[in-house]
Amino acid sequence: MLEARGAVRSLKEYHPPLGGRVGLRLDFNENTVGCSPRVLERLRQLQFDQLARYPERESVEHQVAAHLGADPAGVLLTNGVDEAIHLICETYLEHGDEVLIVVPAFSMYEIYAAATGANVITIPAGPAFRYPTDGVLARISSRTRLIAIANPNNPTGTVVAKGDLLRILRAAPDAAVLVDEAYFDFYGETLLAEVARCPNLFVARTFSKAYGLAGLRIGVLVGNAGQMAMVRRVSSPYNVNAVALACLPDALAEQEYVRQYVAEVRQGREELQHELRLLKLHFWPSQANFVLAKIGERHDAFVRTMRERGILVRDRSRDPGCDGCVRISVGANAQTERLIVALREVVRAMAPTGVPA
Ligand SMILES: Cc1ncc(COP(=O)(O)O)c(C=O)c1O
Repeated sequence: MLEARGAVRSLKEYHPPLGGRVGLRLDFNENTVGCSPRVLERLRQLQFDQLARYPERESVEHQVAAHLGADPAGVLLTNGVDEAIHLICETYLEHGDEVLIVVPAFSMYEIYAAATGANVITIPAGPAFRYPTDGVLARISSRTRLIAIANPNNPTGTVVAKGDLLRILRAAPDAAVLVDEAYFDFYGETLLAEVARCPNLFVARTFSKAYGLAGLRIGVLVGNAGQMAMVRRVSSPYNVNAVALACLPDALAEQEYVRQYVAEVRQGREELQHELRLLKLHFWPSQANFVLAKIGERHDAFVRTMRERGILVRDRSRDPGCDGCVRISVGANAQTERLIVALREVVRAMAPTGVPA
């Protein structure tokens, strides 16, 4: 009988709850108002010829490199950051290699790494989900081949200081260090400039969040040109579809649209955190477009009641160290107002039977 590889058979199944997402989508950290009208206009103007041909990545890759101020030889467009993670794992990991991941973390690091047969070592985050830099340094061995770090992290919204990232990069010269900057736009700090100095550094960015293009599936991986030549070997030349490639230059040209949305999210994040404080709910100060809050034992009832009010939020209580936690994405101003009204009412209604008052 045909059997999948052992590493695949023992993978955890990952089923993000994508079904029936009707309402205000504050559950997947997506953009809640959509991409710029200029991108939609480009979509409407697409001609059959652009779909009939295989997609050409290179010219758009050069535009993205110019936007990032990066060497085009070190820039690869990918089918979302998900594919960037997959490609890094395929390029560098062999059976028995070690991968270090501080948890809670974005699920795909563990899935793609474990699928190669590598040994995934999870290290719990410190108090308040602080990145345990010394703990990570202590686990680096001659077998360590990948250290994956989301900065800001999902689902916590916490960040790792640049100095700590540089310590890790220096301590593990034989490992790929992936700094996943999917939420960069909401944070503003980046390690991109270090790529020129650190040949083991890879920085990933996505257009799924601030740019509102999650459905198009487009991200970018930046690294040392020599290393990226290796990563390109395992990538399909057609990994990014023609529609995404046609739209990306327009999305990049609309920086003011992105800036305005990001400003609203950052303001909304402050308002949400303020409200959580008033409601005496514990939360972790976030640098991303979401906030992780501790709802307590009735986290599932909270998620259900919010859904009944037309607001989708994500139960993260099964993530390591996240008992009773729910992640709430932040959108535009009017949506934040609506969220806060619902939050106040739902929490107050639940208070007598479980949610801390
Ligand atoms: C930290 C992190 N990295 C990567 C991704 C996936 O990004 P993309 O849509 O570009 O595949 C997500 C999505 O939630 C994320 O939270």
